[in-house]
Amino acid sequence: MSTPQGTPAGKHHAPEAGNGRSGVPLVRLVNAGKRYGAVIALHDINMEVGAGEVTCVLGDNGAGKSTLIKIIAGLHAPSTGSYEVEGTPVSFSSPREALEHGIATVYQDLAVVALMPVWRNFFLGNEVRKGPRMDIGAMRKMCKDELLAMGIDLRDVDQPIGTLSGGERQCVAISRAVHFGAKVLILDEPTAALGVKQSGVVLKYIVQARERGLGVIFITHNPHHAYPVGDRFLLLNRGASIGNYEKNQVTRDELTGLMAGGSELEQLSHELESAGGAVADLGRSMEADVEELGISHQPDAESDAR
Ligand SMILES: Nc1ncnc2c1ncn2[C@@H]1O[C@H](COP(=O)(O)OP(=O)(O)O)[C@@H](O)[C@H]1O
Ligand SMILES: [Mg+2]
Repeated sequence: MSTPQGTPAGKHHAPEAGNGRSGVPLVRLVNAGKRYGAVIALHDINMEVGAGEVTCVLGDNGAGKSTLIKIIAGLHAPSTGSYEVEGTPVSFSSPREALEHGIATVYQDLAVVALMPVWRNFFLGNEVRKGPRMDIGAMRKMCKDELLAMGIDLRDVDQPIGTLSGGERQCVAISRAVHFGAKVLILDEPTAALGVKQSGVVLKYIVQARERGLGVIFITHNPHHAYPVGDRFLLLNRGASIGNYEKNQVTRDELTGLMAGGSELEQLSHELESAGGAVADLGRSMEADVEELGISHQPDAESDAR
């Protein structure tokens, strides 16, 4: 999204979108699949994301979670099946196009510039201008107000974003997406690298985003993080759905049991093996995203700020 749009009023359910059960879902995948050459990364996935709901996508490494969010975020088209946004079939050619339809993705390794102030990162690529100059005062104030509206009280939005904790950085990214008018917020394992307390903080902002009427897609492999905040749960295993539940259809213990599946040792060795590849993958896809979104560091805009 290239222009700041102000914030949507705090609502539990955006009336025009409905809540997925009674109205048109914000996002709908029907029998969606994705092949990479001979590899079937995703097969026959059905999914709905309603306004004011959190849809959790659970699965182990290699389950197809990243592939699924890449389809929704506009990085890949599904090889089979269909993808609808607010009832209309779409075929995005870039993440920017998805963003223009209100679909924002917050990646685990956030594309932030550690040494730049919080407000500067908040507006990166969407700077507010007054004539030829950046309106720094306005951006500082909007950033502080938006963070406060999400319940984040930063003493100083001028501090480098690198001084914030991982959880706080996730929260800034969430409030940024809300500020720029996201309808759907995709969070890729936002709690995976965090401790218990920081995870709790991020879970709280997931609930905040839901209460402001967004449809949240929360990717995680931790059922203990998913269950308290989720309204729907899609479980993936080797690219296929092994369950799609509304909250009243499944207990936390059942969810944990479904996730545990194989033996823990097998899981551990698999995780160790794929960790290296996943890190490299993420780096590559982040680079592509940053380029795609045109939010790379711009030297002239920067000197402007000083
Ligand atoms: N670009 C790609 N080329 C070939 N295979 C891929 C590619 N991306 C993912 N895969 C494969 O698709 C499957 C699902 O991967 P992924 O969506 O990354 O799972 P997750 O995010 O749940 O760990 C894995 O078997 C993975 O090796
Ligand atoms: Mg992944």
